[in-house]
Amino acid sequence: MALDRKPAPNDLSAFWMPFTANRQFKAQPRMLVGAKDMHYTAADGRQVLDGTAGLWCCNAGHCRPKITQAITETASTLDYAPAFQIGHPGAFELANRLVDIAPEGIEHVFYTNSGSEAVDTALKIALAYHRARGEASRTRLIGRERGYHGVGFGGISVGGIVNNRRFFGTALNGVDHLPHTHLKENAFTKGQPEHGAYLAEELERLVALHGAETIAAVIVEPMAGSTGVLLPPKGYLEKLRELTTKHGILLIFDEVITGFGRLGSPFAAQHFGVIPDMMTCAKGLTNGVIPMGAVLTSGAIHDAFMQGPDHVIELFHGYTYSGNPIASAAGIATLETYADGNLLTRAAKLEKHWEKALHGLADHPNVIDIRNMGLIGAVELASIPDAPGKRAFDAFVKAFEAGIMIRITGDTIALSPPLIISEEQIDELISTLGSVIKATA
Ligand SMILES: Cc1ncc(COP(=O)(O)O)c(C=O)c1O
Repeated sequence: MALDRKPAPNDLSAFWMPFTANRQFKAQPRMLVGAKDMHYTAADGRQVLDGTAGLWCCNAGHCRPKITQAITETASTLDYAPAFQIGHPGAFELANRLVDIAPEGIEHVFYTNSGSEAVDTALKIALAYHRARGEASRTRLIGRERGYHGVGFGGISVGGIVNNRRFFGTALNGVDHLPHTHLKENAFTKGQPEHGAYLAEELERLVALHGAETIAAVIVEPMAGSTGVLLPPKGYLEKLRELTTKHGILLIFDEVITGFGRLGSPFAAQHFGVIPDMMTCAKGLTNGVIPMGAVLTSGAIHDAFMQGPDHVIELFHGYTYSGNPIASAAGIATLETYADGNLLTRAAKLEKHWEKALHGLADHPNVIDIRNMGLIGAVELASIPDAPGKRAFDAFVKAFEAGIMIRITGDTIALSPPLIISEEQIDELISTLGSVIKATA
């Protein structure tokens, strides 16, 4: 859609939309104009039940008063403070509160503005950490097939979603990948799958191939969300932790989706009882309201940098908006909102109801797998021959028209509602989805 004139006020052509089929969208737009708690308001006034917490981020639901108030007040008292060599109380306060809910041993917070930046920051910290300790040969980064770690060059390099990589050249050198953990024999498993822990042993193969002394870090999503909700097989993350420790390799959990209660614990690390050396987060950190991400690191990583003369900058990295006052205020108010509603553990209470409702779709047409954990779920549909993704996209459009917001990746429908959802709303979401799946058969 080339611009051959100045756009009119309501013209859709100037905005080049991200991860969107622009021409198709602009021919038939789906617009949101409001949101409150569990619902969006569409431009035509319809209420749409949010089955995806926006983009896996509005974990406390929409327009929560404490968060709105914190943002409003901070915007009129300290709109911006430089992030380098000067501070403001909110950023320190939020960091302390994040460490309070983080697993044992995670003690420091480095702020970014997004999940992608958090990932690239964590990878850079990993490289600089080894160098600071005199192991500068550790430059290799290991990701996983089908992993999603955002869209920066670091993230797409360690990521394993083909379309996010193939158009952008060779990306970072010295990256390798573990195999993904999506096995056919685990289809329709409720919760964590039985088969596949052995796939973590592939790290031994990569160590044998490259030498442990060349490998800086392994990064994985403890539960892979954007690729279509792939759960870690029982024992898999434990094995990865064991092997990374054995070989002096840092383990990074990308918790951009799993952070802040999605699986029924503040972080997936606690849910699985596996503590990484670093964790990335974003999204639910501010309830999606203001862009903010963070890298949470172990004390040991941070302390390795705190050497040499005091006046020297320890890490040459940061963003203009790292720990921005309004984002920090939103983060603090978000954590308070989670605490007020016990939201960081609520998914564990709703999990059985969610699981039962979701697996009730197993006999629906074209359903080839259903996966779930905490308040996350996936329904995988058989692809239409020669038109991968089309069946799910049709379901997405029909679902929006039917009053529910779902998310799709390929032919997988992913669900991750706000953690305030009621059991009745779960039933409404899943039964509407059932009708939509039938209508797209
Ligand atoms: C696991 C994971 N990492 C990183 C990102 C990137 O986050 P952002 O879109 O905020 O850059 C995402 C986004 O969905 C994600 O799911």
